[in-house]
Amino acid sequence: MSAKLSVLIVDDNRTNLALMDMLVRKLPDCVTQLQTDPQLLLADLGRLDYDVAVLAARMAPLDGITLAGRLKADQRFRDKPILLAADDPDGGMRARALAAGIEEVLEKPINPVEFRARIQSFARPRPQASPWDEPYTAPADVMAHEDEYVSTLVKVAGCRDRESPQHSQRVARYCAILAHNLGLPEEFCRDILHAAPLHDIGKAGLSDALLRKPGLLSPEERREMEEHTRIGHAMLKGSRSRVFRMAAEIALTHHERWNGSGYPQRLRAEQIPLSGRIAAVADVFDALTSLRAYKTAWSIANAFTYLHDNAGEQFDPACVAAFENGREEIAAVMLAMPDPDDGTADAA
Ligand SMILES: [Fe+2]
Ligand SMILES: [Fe+2]
Repeated sequence: MSAKLSVLIVDDNRTNLALMDMLVRKLPDCVTQLQTDPQLLLADLGRLDYDVAVLAARMAPLDGITLAGRLKADQRFRDKPILLAADDPDGGMRARALAAGIEEVLEKPINPVEFRARIQSFARPRPQASPWDEPYTAPADVMAHEDEYVSTLVKVAGCRDRESPQHSQRVARYCAILAHNLGLPEEFCRDILHAAPLHDIGKAGLSDALLRKPGLLSPEERREMEEHTRIGHAMLKGSRSRVFRMAAEIALTHHERWNGSGYPQRLRAEQIPLSGRIAAVADVFDALTSLRAYKTAWSIANAFTYLHDNAGEQFDPACVAAFENGREEIAAVMLAMPDPDDGTADAA
């Protein structure tokens, strides 16, 4: 961080933009960067640098929560605080903002005293010695063992879950292939490979009666089952490890749907973190191509057709396209990692 705190302010209403600019510039050691067009900001993301961002919630063509999600998806900005300035924010908006990684929601019209206090709280010098204040990258020897920690947790959770032990590992491989085909940085691809196996760990917090019930679930049981997303997130959140932070994000969001009909928060499109959108494609593909107590294993061709037909509804279309581009590698993973004696390899 430079000596001065650089505050990025994005609002397509020029009056609001000028007001927030004036309030920030009155603070000592703060400079502003102003933008009225969120898409222009994203178009030049490579050159963007800031310490704190203030985003208007309602903007066209990209709202503040969506923009926050795009910024937080970039490794460089993942730990930079974002304040959302919203007219009349309700509980739903606050939940979506929280899920997008936004630190604070401020109500419009902006209260100058509160606004300056929030900005100043981010400007306050932090103790140099605390590792909690910096984006955490585990030392190489710890990172080398992160996959061991993950696979131990997966084994513990697998003792109770009726899912096959190979499911979580195949999903992780599919996620890494998809992320790679999206052109995401190697660091992201490696993180998702290690984080994705934990997507269903919250099932360890559900009752045996529910997990082991043969056949279909009643509506009430299904609602109970859906809680595995929040339980998994609660188990994994707050870690200093990048992998575990991503795992928490995936646990919470891998059942969200692009059209907003998923659970648990009914997030829509880019409100869903990228890791969750990727895991959704991989998880459903693996469920379709696996034998379950209530269904036969689909062929690879039929599973790809399902993904294609539901791109833009259930799934992020860009993720489906990237997954389709990895078809050969995906088939190879599927053949190399079959469920024990269940015919998965035959389904290929
Ligand atoms: Fe799940
Ligand atoms: Fe799963």
